[in-house]
This record gives sequence, C-alpha cells and structure tokens, in this order.
Amino acid sequence: MKLLVTGGAGYVGSVCAARLLEAGHEVVVLDDLSTGHADAVPEGCRFVQGDVGDVAGPLLAEGFDGVLHFAAKSLVGESMQDPAKYWQGNVVTSLRLLDAMHENGVSRLVFSSTAATYGEPEESPIRETAPTRPTNTYGATKLAIDQAITSYAAAHGLAATSLRYFNVAGAYDRFGERHTVETHLIPIVLQVALGQREQVQIYGDDWPTEDGTCVRDYIHVLDLAEAHLLALETSVPGRHRVYNLGNGTGFSVRQVIDTCRAVTGHPVPAVVAPRRAGDPAVLVASSELARQELGWKPQRQDLADIVRDAWEFTRARQGA
Ligand code: UFG
Repeated sequence: MKLLVTGGAGYVGSVCAARLLEAGHEVVVLDDLSTGHADAVPEGCRFVQGDVGDVAGPLLAEGFDGVLHFAAKSLVGESMQDPAKYWQGNVVTSLRLLDAMHENGVSRLVFSSTAATYGEPEESPIRETAPTRPTNTYGATKLAIDQAITSYAAAHGLAATSLRYFNVAGAYDRFGERHTVETHLIPIVLQVALGQREQVQIYGDDWPTEDGTCVRDYIHVLDLAEAHLLALETSVPGRHRVYNLGNGTGFSVRQVIDTCRAVTGHPVPAVVAPRRAGDPAVLVASSELARQELGWKPQRQDLADIVRDAWEFTRARQGA
C-alpha cells in the first residue's frame, strides 16, 4: 500500500514508519518537525516537511491507500496552559486531514488516540466501553477527533481504527524517544543514569496504591507498531474501531525506578515531590478486544526488556 504517515519524524511515528517499510509498504512521512527530528525519518521513506492541515490535501491528491495519523501536540501540562494550541493543532488539523482524505478517496485511517480520553477510571483494567471523561485538554482533543472519525466513517465509508495508547516505552533500532522537553518517567530516569540529571522526582507517594506511587501500564513501542500494521490490514469500510493498547499489568513509579536501577546498574537517586496535577492513581489497559479482533499478541511485555531497549537507545545516542 502507499501510505501517508503524519508525525513520522516523532517517536511512535518513526518506529511505525520503519515497520511499515519493512512490511513492504511505500511510506511518505509528513511532519512539521515542531517536535520531531528529520534524522528520525527512516531511510527509504519520502519525507515532506510541512503542516498536516496545509499539506495533506495536495499530497493525498497524488493517490494514497491509507493514512496513519500520529502528528499531534501531546503534552498534558501544556494543553492546560495553552488550549488553543491543542484545539487548533490537534482537532482543526485532523478535521482538515479527514476532509482531504474524503475529497481524495483515501479510505483507510489509523489514528493515535490515548488512554487520556478516559480520564479518572471507574474500572481497572480499562475496557473500551468505559466512560470517556478526559481530565485534561490533551485528552479532550483526542476524544473530539475520535468522535469526528466515527461520524466520517458512518457518512463516508472510512475504514478507521483509533488505537488508545497507554504508556509507550522502549525503542527499536535507532528509533526511540528524543523529546526536547522530557516529561515521561522512563526517559527521565535514564537521564539520571546517564548523569544528565541528579535525581528523579516521584510525583506523590500518598496515592491509594500498594506503595503509594502511581501505577501505569507500559507497552513496548514495537508491540504498539505491530498493532498499527494489524489495524491497517483488518480495517473495515464504514466502521470506526477503537482499541486500548497496553500490557494489562500495572507498575508503580517506584517499581519502574527499581527496574531502571537494575538495568542500568546506577543507583538513581529519587526524592518524593508533590503530586502532579491531573495524574490518575492507576491506569491499566484491558487489551482483550485488540487481541480478539486484531489478533494482536504483544511480544515484549517484560518491563526490564522494555527499559533495556530504551537504555540501549539512550546510550547509543550519547555515544556512551
Ligand atoms: N512521574 C514521576 N516523575 C517524573 C515523571 C513522571 O513520578 O519525573 C510519574 C507520573 O506522575 C505518572 C508516571 O510517572 O504517575 C508516568 O508518567 P509519564 O509522564 O511517563 O506518563 P503519563 O502516565 O502521565 O502519560 C501517559 C502518556 C500521555 C497520556 C497519558 C494518559 O504519555 O500522553 O499517559 O493519561 F496522556
């Protein structure tokens, strides 16, 4: 298939673009490089630098079989400070993309949605039938796009899949997490292990969990990429399918830090800090539906393996 990958210079987008190429697809990456990196675009992809809302139309007029839409603003804290950046950058841009797909007869879509669409969960693990009540603007914009996709699928026969990622981690080959502003737990801990930070802050140890720290479900980026390939292959015209993607096992912040200590051999000093606004105590996915309907079978569920891949990537980038 000839595929447009928006955000293919970013973390998840670059890994998926690499896997799509390996699976024999023709891949065009569209990315404005606002957070991505030109050298993260896999060799063999055609790279177009530009804004998805402006460029997707003319590009799709060339003729494409499908779109994988990763490009997005994705910092929860920033989304609360600067909502316009998220409503414009995520929702308005995605609507332009959906219209461009419709106008050019491109019918397959895989969209990067998020666990943040659920907000504070009532059940654990979280199934796709759980109420969607996002507690931050980032999650609200992703939910709005999901709803638009449902309408477009019903009206225009779009074959669409939204994948709701839980906590993505790990790396694949030379593709991994390289955020200029790093907010995620595992890369921050690895920066401590590399000597780039003195310590990691634990955002609260008084949560209603076993050790008092927040619990999250970490999924290897390569398992996530496989789900995208399956979603593309199995997509159904006129249907918008939604799947949660995680491992179904929660790890606390302290457990993650301990695993990073074991993998890196570094003591990784940690201090308890105040809670971070908007953090739910526990976020764990039920991915039963993805397993049943997509035939998805995650292969890298061990947290130490996930951290090891991230660590190797981080060290290779530092030349350590
Ligand atoms: N944490 C710390 N110290 C840090 C960084 C994080 O204690 O320096 C904690 C957080 O409070 C949280 C856990 O580690 O409990 C994981 O935090 P991340 O920032 O790595 O990930 P989140 O769970 O906040 O966010 C992820 C995705 C978001 C998505 C969200 C869904 O990265 O895009 O899940 O709620 F919105």
